[in-house]
Amino acid sequence: MLSSRYKPWHVPLFMGKYAWLRVRQRPVLLNLEVTMRCNARCGFCDYWKTPASAKADELKEFTDIARRFNPMMITFTGGEPTLRRDLEDIVTAVRDATTFSYLAMITHGGMLTLDRAKSLWDAGLDQFNISLDYLDGRHDDARGIPGLTAKIMDTVPRMKAAGIGSVRFNTVLKHDNLDQMLPLVHKAASMGAGVNFSVYTDAKNGNENHLLRDQHVRALESVIDQLLEYKRKNRGVITNSDHYLSEIPRWVKGLMTAPCPSGTTTVHVDPQGKVRRCPDFPPDVDWKQWTPYAAIKCDDCFYACRGEAQAPMRLSRVLDVMASPKIT
Ligand SMILES: C[S@@+](CC[C@H](N)C(=O)[O-])C[C@H]1O[C@@H](n2cnc3c(N)ncnc32)[C@H](O)[C@@H]1O
Ligand code: SF4
Ligand code: SF4
Repeated sequence: MLSSRYKPWHVPLFMGKYAWLRVRQRPVLLNLEVTMRCNARCGFCDYWKTPASAKADELKEFTDIARRFNPMMITFTGGEPTLRRDLEDIVTAVRDATTFSYLAMITHGGMLTLDRAKSLWDAGLDQFNISLDYLDGRHDDARGIPGLTAKIMDTVPRMKAAGIGSVRFNTVLKHDNLDQMLPLVHKAASMGAGVNFSVYTDAKNGNENHLLRDQHVRALESVIDQLLEYKRKNRGVITNSDHYLSEIPRWVKGLMTAPCPSGTTTVHVDPQGKVRRCPDFPPDVDWKQWTPYAAIKCDDCFYACRGEAQAPMRLSRVLDVMASPKIT
């Protein structure tokens, strides 16, 4: 699902950059954690406990970091990135410092008004990833933001109508939201939006309440089959690779033996400019001292960024990227 800012002929250029980065063992995806502060109250992530005083230590700009890595994709994340009033300046500077880097932002969406979305789009953001794990009040409860789901449902169609080219839901698969996966995909399709799935981990703060376990595998496999079936018939809505979706039950069953490539193809930079291999590992060195990580024996999560990095680059993946969702 490509942002409307790009045309299909841009895809080979992005693919060329991908190949160039892989050959040089450079990260393809750079996650810029522009703040760790957050105004949600999630039970499965403790970033919201970051004190307000942390703002004083946050980098004012991430331009040199983006230029140094010059990856294929840059994601502004956190914490809650929309808390940064200067996010537009950060985005524009990063846009100007990179070539063929696709810029996305992950947000809980609670403060994303149409005006803010337009101003971030105009600043150079290519894609909005809005977290959405349930279509009902469970999402508001899980995030501790009353009215959040209704707000997202109101804002996304208006963003699309305003010409904002790529909106995706970031949806975390948990044992208690499997019933929501197909309805969520249909809802996204009805709005011209996409869905990117990832899998719940307790590695963030030890909360095991949402973990998928052996007893959930049968229901999980059935949902995955339905998602793959949907994907075969409607390309462009579900943005994960078939490979990633198919591998999720294997991870839940503890059968994944491949080392984790986090830090090789993807890398995180925290608000102070320190590099870490993944969101759940502590920061290591300042970005200026960064040297490539090696794959590591760790199986604590199966985030999409881990699983997609393990996915083979097949033609179907290119078609996934190029397809645009048709409003159904
Ligand atoms: C850490 S958040 C930062 C961006 C923003 N605050 C948000 O929630 O969208 C990035 C993504 O991680 C996901 N996430 C948070 N806790 C998680 C967990 N324990 N397991 C899997 N994904 C998680 C969120 O749902 C979100 O899509
Ligand atoms: S998942 Fe996002 S919204 Fe929830 S506490 Fe973490 S950073 Fe905040
Ligand atoms: S499996 Fe990889 S991405 Fe997940 S916690 Fe371990 S090192 Fe990090």
